[in-house]
Amino acid sequence: MAHSIFISSLLVWGVAAADLTFTVPSSPPSNSSGQLSAAPVGVSLEFFTFPAYMNNVAATTTCLQNLKDLTGTWPPLRIGGTTQDRATYDPSLTLAVNYTVASSADAPTTLTYGPSFISLAASYGGEIILGLNRRLNNIVNSISAAKLAQSEASNLYAMELGNEPNFYSSSDPIAGGASWTAAADYASQVTWQDEVCGNLSATDLISAGVYFGTSPMSISGLTAVEGTANNYVKTYCSHNYPQSASTANLATLMGHSSIASQISGYSSEITAAANEGKPHIFGETNSATQGGGGISPTFGAALWILDYVMQTILMGTKALYFHQGTIGNCQYCWWGRYDMGAPYYGAYFATMALANADQIAPLDSQTTAYAAYAIYKSGAPVRVLLYNSDYYTSGTRSSQTFVLSGLSASSVTAKRLTAPYATSRVDQGGNPTVAGQTFVNGTCAIQGTQSVETATVSSGKATFTVAASEALLVYL
Ligand SMILES: *[C@@H]1O[C@H](CO)[C@@H](O)[C@H](O)[C@H]1NC(C)=O
Ligand SMILES: *[C@@H]1O[C@H](CO)[C@@H](O)[C@H](O)[C@H]1NC(C)=O
Ligand SMILES: *[C@@H]1O[C@H](CO)[C@@H](O)[C@H](O)[C@H]1NC(C)=O
Ligand SMILES: *[C@@H]1O[C@H](CO)[C@@H](O)[C@H](O)[C@H]1NC(C)=O
Repeated sequence: MAHSIFISSLLVWGVAAADLTFTVPSSPPSNSSGQLSAAPVGVSLEFFTFPAYMNNVAATTTCLQNLKDLTGTWPPLRIGGTTQDRATYDPSLTLAVNYTVASSADAPTTLTYGPSFISLAASYGGEIILGLNRRLNNIVNSISAAKLAQSEASNLYAMELGNEPNFYSSSDPIAGGASWTAAADYASQVTWQDEVCGNLSATDLISAGVYFGTSPMSISGLTAVEGTANNYVKTYCSHNYPQSASTANLATLMGHSSIASQISGYSSEITAAANEGKPHIFGETNSATQGGGGISPTFGAALWILDYVMQTILMGTKALYFHQGTIGNCQYCWWGRYDMGAPYYGAYFATMALANADQIAPLDSQTTAYAAYAIYKSGAPVRVLLYNSDYYTSGTRSSQTFVLSGLSASSVTAKRLTAPYATSRVDQGGNPTVAGQTFVNGTCAIQGTQSVETATVSSGKATFTVAASEALLVYL
């Protein structure tokens, strides 16, 4: 009796955990994204350490080049962060940047940068966003740097006028001794846009907003007072960090439906930008602030990047710039001088999924742990991305079976993104693999033999198994 109950409950469970079946629409469905940009996955380099990343960290160029090799376009680069609002341009400085810190793990509280900083930015093969200082209220200084960037950097996409002004206070020079409110920031942004772009005789130049989160200052609020200054705006920009050291929860970070909840507040920001005829970007983003709480260097954070990119692009953002901070003191960084970071694998896989595509569509409702996205080029499906966001850290690894129907080929291939656990870290020997390959510590060169899986299509259907904390990219 007990034996047969066991068997029947197993069968019931087997039915309940049934295969997930998705029909791949033969043309983009109504909830598809708009036109994808050529390189939606970008990088943000903290202002003071940008020259060191380019000149002293061997992996930087190859890590960026690996992404360029997938899409044909260098990933867009933003140079900015907290230290852009501590920086003063010095036209006579021969160094790219000059500062003193007590420890190499610290960011400087004040710094200067010279013309060679701008030349270095101008030499990058992709588009750049340059962060200028507004906090110190030295507009003449910021305009002199802006003029040089305008004349020298043919790759200049936009400039920021201040970083995360929602964190400015009455003691910052820009506040002029008054309390720093949303209204004060909006008025200041518009004045600076007028004067900087007036001096440069430029329009469509400013990455505006640059707010951390959506409150108390928001793109919705800023666009309401932009008026004709909107002509000076190139893009409206949000910063997003889902977690902090005190909230760190990796299962929540990487969970498919929890990502949908976490980003939902940005929907109205993207709409506000679109209503002004401008794209929205996440100009600075990463997994967790305040050192990352131990979750940032993990494979789960790579899976977060993968699904977060897909979901934010579906919401209508144009590009995401994942922040890389102080070299040697950066939990969420994709690479360093010595080791790779597991999150880079998620960025690489997301770039593979979107490379040279036009649109992406969600096949699932974003309310479970299992995601499926159809990816379109010239109106036809070319790839399907499958993601099992069940959190796997030990014991028996569960898996989810996905059945794709509506396929026209007789067989399809697939590349897998996996690692021993969601908690795996490269520096602890838990190397992720992308189609069986890894990136070399210290150089970012891809290594190993690529392993491509094949699935037979029968009556237009093929079956795929994706383990907990894994993703699979199917090539149709
Ligand atoms: C660099 O900054 C330090 C102060 O941090 C200053 O003493 C030094 O003169 C500066 N160097 C140059 C070349 O400007
Ligand atoms: C140039 O910038 C200055 C502030 O430094 C401002 O007073 C002036 O109005 C600006 N010129 C134009 C044409 O916008
Ligand atoms: C998108 O539309 C499909 C039907 O084409 C639906 O099954 C799916 O749940 C939708 N997903 C979202 C997130 O809107
Ligand atoms: C990178 O170095 C770490 C040690 O810091 C090691 O555990 C890991 O296996 C290395 N990864 C690769 C791909 O060689």
